[in-house]
Amino acid sequence: MADFLELANARQSCRAYTGEKVAHEQLVKCVEAARLTPSACNSQPWSVVVVEDPKIVPQVAETTMQLGLNAYTKDASAFFVVIEERAKLMPGIAKLVDGQMFAKGDVGGFVLSLTLEAASLGLGTCILGLFDRPKLRELLDIPEEKSIFLVIAVGHPKKDAHRDKLRKPLEEVARFV
Ligand SMILES: Cc1cc2nc3c(=O)[nH]c(=O)nc-3n(C[C@H](O)[C@H](O)[C@H](O)COP(=O)(O)O)c2cc1C
Repeated sequence: MADFLELANARQSCRAYTGEKVAHEQLVKCVEAARLTPSACNSQPWSVVVVEDPKIVPQVAETTMQLGLNAYTKDASAFFVVIEERAKLMPGIAKLVDGQMFAKGDVGGFVLSLTLEAASLGLGTCILGLFDRPKLRELLDIPEEKSIFLVIAVGHPKKDAHRDKLRKPLEEVARFV
């Protein structure tokens, strides 16, 4: 089994893709891994639109190009559009907390599992919070009541070097008692 710390370190936001197609089976594997993510009351408040049709992919890329950023998505091979669904918590728990309280964390886990599986397959991904929501909603026919959480670009990475992670030091993040 691959060392998880190595994989976590290997995953990085990929901003240069070759444009070569990603196999459908690899996209399915990414969703399979994401599907296994834990969630509050096992409510699994997520779904995903996997965009792989070469006619639609460039149109999704277009919606992510905002404020002069994200131009590199023009070479992505596919996109995952992640949706935060209504969480169905156990009645006792739903009474104590706002029903969607844990959902964002749950969907965040879904996104991370997906990107880590992609990294394990040698694919590049970039999580995108910047995109034209109304345009994307219209393009993919996503109903108004569904909340688009974020978009993930995926593709074969150009051979760029691994970057050192810029992260807060361990001592700042953790307190051992
Ligand atoms: C919610 C979220 C939104 C992000 N939005 C963008 C984006 O719109 N464009 C982009 O190039 N990177 C985006 N990123 C990538 C972050 O900049 C990146 O994860 C962070 O700098 C850490 O670098 P690493 O992913 O290479 O480890 C986003 C990441 C997250 C988690």
